[in-house]
Amino acid sequence: APSGGGPVDGMKFDIVRPNTDDALRIPDGYRQRVVIRWGDPVLPGAPEFDFENQTADAQSKQFGFNNDFAGLIPIDGQDGSFYLVVNQEYTTEEFMFRGYQEKEPTEEQARIAMAAHGITVLEVKASNKDGSLTPVVGPRNRRITASTPFRLTGPAAGTDFVKTAADRAGNTVAGTIANCSGGITPWGTMLSGEENYNNYFSNASKVKDKAAAAHLERYGFADDADYHQWGRFETRFDLEKDPNEANRFGYVVEVDPTDPNSTPLKHSALGRLKHESANIHVVKDGPAAGTVVAYTGDDEKFEYIYKFVSSRKIKDGDKRHNMGILTEGTLYVASFSSDKPVTTDDAAGSGAWHKLMTVNADGSAQSHIKGMTAAEVAVFTREAADKAGATKMDRPEDIEPHPITGKVYCALTNNDDRGVDGEEGPTSANPRNENKNGQILEMTDDHAGESFTWDLLLVAGDPKAADTYYGGFDKTKVSPISCPDNVAFDPHGNLWISTDGNALKSNDGLFAVALEGERRGETKQFLTVPRGAETCGPIIDSKRVIVCVQHPGEEDDYSADRPFSHWPDGGNSQPRPSVVAVWRDGGGAIGV
Ligand code: FEO
Ligand code: CA
Ligand code: CA
Ligand code: CA
Repeated sequence: APSGGGPVDGMKFDIVRPNTDDALRIPDGYRQRVVIRWGDPVLPGAPEFDFENQTADAQSKQFGFNNDFAGLIPIDGQDGSFYLVVNQEYTTEEFMFRGYQEKEPTEEQARIAMAAHGITVLEVKASNKDGSLTPVVGPRNRRITASTPFRLTGPAAGTDFVKTAADRAGNTVAGTIANCSGGITPWGTMLSGEENYNNYFSNASKVKDKAAAAHLERYGFADDADYHQWGRFETRFDLEKDPNEANRFGYVVEVDPTDPNSTPLKHSALGRLKHESANIHVVKDGPAAGTVVAYTGDDEKFEYIYKFVSSRKIKDGDKRHNMGILTEGTLYVASFSSDKPVTTDDAAGSGAWHKLMTVNADGSAQSHIKGMTAAEVAVFTREAADKAGATKMDRPEDIEPHPITGKVYCALTNNDDRGVDGEEGPTSANPRNENKNGQILEMTDDHAGESFTWDLLLVAGDPKAADTYYGGFDKTKVSPISCPDNVAFDPHGNLWISTDGNALKSNDGLFAVALEGERRGETKQFLTVPRGAETCGPIIDSKRVIVCVQHPGEEDDYSADRPFSHWPDGGNSQPRPSVVAVWRDGGGAIGV
């Protein structure tokens, strides 16, 4: 296998070895600093974090818990100033409250948790000496929580599926929760996906309407899924009292960070699933030039990959127009096939996109699924995709088009149920039973069209194992990678992958992977995160690497009284999810 020459630009750093340290490990010659941690002030007037005396009011002005995605959007006309946009996926109450009893929050604890969810917009100033970022607590900042009003767009809006006692019109939703992964649009907004929202609703078993109960089951709602127990304090989270509230979560949300008073959007034209955000490709040439294609995955075992193709074309500099792009177009779901027998060694094949629904410019919509209306496709998208003949995947996490080549990369994180207990066995794009380590799918898509080809760039896991594949690169010379979750690209076009759930007995981390030429498949670990944490959010620009360290210390048996991690504050402190900047000592470019 090829391994001649040296590493490509962007990947010239000393690898970080697998470890189980309670620390964020980076290559020699690099430096790191926390940008912001759970509880740090965001809004003017926010109190300093006080673990022993936290309140919902304080939390609503402070950085939330379990940061997942991070994006940097330049602030117009201000060199070195950015909006750092971060979502706060969920809360780990055991870390937040001393002596917390599982599923037994007090009302104040539940309200702190609600305020610790959502999205943060934070102005940051970049150092002109190094890659560090410093928060500016000022008027540009915003906290969006589980209570902030959102406008629902697309075919779901105004239908009986989403009307509730508090919103008889069915178009204004209180809050966003379970926000996972994210993307920055070419028009400068942030996208984020509502993912495991089933974990917030009680009394699924008490829903009497048979159709409503079946829909809830398809989306994983169950009494024992409700980890947070908010329904005790807000009846909208009690399915027995307000079964439609569940249909108001599960969307791709869009936030304009430049206006802290703007109403964020939930886009039902992209369907309702457990979205792992959405990422955008703009068609450059031909009759479809200006068409926006949004790729999105549904992160659950045996779920699907989707794309939305806009009919409204992008207009440079017209944000108002562009913020309507995700309301008008066609939603598709993918199927994968191959002429080869199922293999982990250079698996490849072709695929098709199946139409689910089309939304017209006037807001009317048509379903392409027999027996379902467009509104039903928008709200019960998984059921439409079941009927369309989509391929069940190994947990589609982040999916992102390459900014230069346009190839689409998807992290299929793992699926330990494949081939187990009567579940579907290996298929061409999901080639392993009991898949503990995941794979990276590479698609060459006819973006505005209905066909693609694909291959597996990586079949992750122990490089010594026969059923792993590292793009054809010499497997004795790669860092072992397991459970890919988020994908990103550096300025040189290399793929960067962050992991969640490493099944190789090491902490999770961040890896760079060469895509082109004879180093294709070379995989090098850039950092590891502290014990129990997942690595997410990554941004790799010329000056810095940003990672979100989510749920440090999360193990099966944990509490604020016996933390498994003391990162980042050290001593005997409780762990705090944080955003970290890493840069090269002396300020040089990353990996060159
Ligand atoms: Fe929240 Fe699919 O990771
Ligand atoms: Ca994820
Ligand atoms: Ca990404
Ligand atoms: Ca994950």
